[in-house]
Amino acid sequence: MNQPAYLSRLLEAAREAAKQAHAPYSKFHVGAAILTRSDEMITGCNVENSSFGLTICAERTAAVRAVVQGQVEWQVIAIVSPTGVTPCGACRQVLSEFAPQLEVWYGHLDPSLPVTGPISLEALLPGAMKFNT
Ligand code: THU
Repeated sequence: MNQPAYLSRLLEAAREAAKQAHAPYSKFHVGAAILTRSDEMITGCNVENSSFGLTICAERTAAVRAVVQGQVEWQVIAIVSPTGVTPCGACRQVLSEFAPQLEVWYGHLDPSLPVTGPISLEALLPGAMKFNT
């Protein structure tokens, strides 16, 4: 499938963000970039902690930054990492809060390695938890 025009700048932003990762324990630098419906790009990186369980993934830092900026309508997220991992389950749930139809791409820090997508968040997390009142 042909890659959409926005993908290269989204991947570039995610790779830039990965440079800011605080990952002294895993040494696994991850970057994420969200493209909003109003064409803004908002990035995140993973932030680890001495208390390992407090680590925050790149996808979630991008998500919370977007919310703080009042940008809660998202079209696409691109994630880059050393091995091209998919978003973890916790991040899938957090992303689905705002954008269940989100288009997901994931690839490598090394731009010469492959990128996978588009995959819808619904395909990655069928039956996301939704709070029913
Ligand atoms: N990590 C992310 O930031 N996003 C992912 O999709 C997978 C995992 C981070 C968490 C931790 O800092 C490191 O990668 C190793 O799991």
